[in-house]
Amino acid sequence: MCGIVGYTGAQQAAPILLEGLTNLEYRGYDSAGIAVINNKQILVSKVTGRIANLCERTNDGKSCPGTVGIGHTRWATHGAPTDTNAHPHMSNNGKFAVVHNGIIENYMNLREELINNGYHFESQTDTEVVVHLIEMYYNGDIKKAVKRTLARLEGSYALGVICADEPEKIYVAREASPLILGIGIGENFFASDVTALVQYTRNVIYLDDGEFAEITPESIKIFDCAGQQIKKKINHINWDIQAAEKGGYEHFMLKEIMEQPRAVKATISPRIKDNEIVLDETDLSVDYLKNIKKIVITACGSAYYAGCAGKHAIEKLCKIPVQVELASELRYSDPLIDERTLLLVISQSGETADTIAAMKECKRRGAKTLAIVNVVGSTIANLADHVLYTWAGPEIAVATTKGYTTQLAVLYLFALHAAKKLNRIDEQRYDNLLKVIKTLPKRIQEVIDMNPSIPKLAKKYHKHSSMFFIGRNTDYAIALEGALKMKEISYIHAESYAAGELKHGTIALIDEHQPVIALCCNDSVMEKTMSNIVEVKARGAEVLAVTFRNNQKIVSLADDVIFIPQVEPLFSAVVEIIPLQLLAYYVAKENGCDIDKPKNLAKSVTVE
Ligand code: AGP
Repeated sequence: MCGIVGYTGAQQAAPILLEGLTNLEYRGYDSAGIAVINNKQILVSKVTGRIANLCERTNDGKSCPGTVGIGHTRWATHGAPTDTNAHPHMSNNGKFAVVHNGIIENYMNLREELINNGYHFESQTDTEVVVHLIEMYYNGDIKKAVKRTLARLEGSYALGVICADEPEKIYVAREASPLILGIGIGENFFASDVTALVQYTRNVIYLDDGEFAEITPESIKIFDCAGQQIKKKINHINWDIQAAEKGGYEHFMLKEIMEQPRAVKATISPRIKDNEIVLDETDLSVDYLKNIKKIVITACGSAYYAGCAGKHAIEKLCKIPVQVELASELRYSDPLIDERTLLLVISQSGETADTIAAMKECKRRGAKTLAIVNVVGSTIANLADHVLYTWAGPEIAVATTKGYTTQLAVLYLFALHAAKKLNRIDEQRYDNLLKVIKTLPKRIQEVIDMNPSIPKLAKKYHKHSSMFFIGRNTDYAIALEGALKMKEISYIHAESYAAGELKHGTIALIDEHQPVIALCCNDSVMEKTMSNIVEVKARGAEVLAVTFRNNQKIVSLADDVIFIPQVEPLFSAVVEIIPLQLLAYYVAKENGCDIDKPKNLAKSVTVE
């Protein structure tokens, strides 16, 4: 995700901004910029690529003299990584500059209104609407203009605003995107997280949602959403920079597991307007969808497993046959693909060599391609006819978590949206399923909150050298990803198996040395899976079951049970996978593994 920093005091601002942005690099970004007030003029410098390019462009900040400024590292969501799309964004009259982390969900309507009011847009970003709104509302009182602007914004934001008319002041505001104020002596700071501040001050204030602040070198005034000044607690940070990068978590993987409610919400919310799914980015016509003979999903690793889970939703709702193919296999299989095939290409990085090759092969055979990727402007995004981005923010840990769950979120939206366009779902069912999708971020948070016992379970199961993950139907698709998580970070051999298939040979391996993780979250096959639990118990296996809160029957069958909230099975994968991610994480921790960088693995496999 993006990073923002700001400074007002007696020192030159630019070097402090550049240093702060450098400490935010770990968050992942594709462009950066700073804006500094100099003699009531705003000087802006912004570049694509690394902070080093910005240091070079500004001669380490010397070409941007001034003691008040804001800075930004951009992780592209709306608009490719270019100098123009980089922040800070300037108002048409040059009096204001803004940096932003988050997503302004109603930016299209605001953009239209502002253009109709004569404002000119430079970039394709959602952020630019903020700076033009401030200009539109400004009549000499910057605080009022900021407040009126905030009242128009929907979505998430951590904002920094400077005004050439008020050369010492910075305004900041927070809604669902972290924002911290740093308290200095004769100087004050703001940033997205403490890593950008901790070398200057360890005394910080965490803004809460709906709050905004006016910062000068001598004072910090904080206001609630009604504009009333409020007092906030001053915290003393004793983290080092390393810990701060992980937001206080021990590993990026755990931080990213905990970010999933926000990441899934950021992926879903901008695509639901007036209780309808709006996939503006893909204009797949009804005629085209009607003419599709089949959908092929291709990907690698966890992205492939997301496709295995998404297949159920698409087939059930759209009544279109879906094949899920490993990209490394598809590319050499002389596939039966033609112009009546829709190819869904799933990739977090957008740079996986096998997936790119399979995509090119299918394009060559006439398939239309829709990519589901997390990195804006990546190779797969640029190759695709249509792109649906997962707005998960940068994923640092090699083992994907929020990348996988946001891919599922996009697949669910696509399935429901296409089913409606094809008239294969009635209004009532559409509304009910859309409600389920909207509650998924909350359900994920619930699972995280309701399972403090997972570290204890990890202590019980971590010594095994092998384990099975079993399930049926949608549960089997989740077992695939659960087993991969366990393998890739704890190095325990884990095999996912269709529960109904065990009796055809593999059950010969089941004994007291092979714990079985049984996924029982699909009512339509629940009884069958529970009889599989009895089968493996009879052969001595210890069983850890994952099931719905109300399925108390299973308590007498399994040795351990992880409960999750009841969720529509078509969409349950995004919730059911959470305990498996946490189990793998804590087992790996017990085994002393290098969780964020597992041996032999790369975050993006860009070679065949
Ligand atoms: C998942 O935890 C692994 N890191 C790996 O399987 C990954 O999902 C796979 O390499 C595909 O990567 P992509 O999503 O970036 O294409």
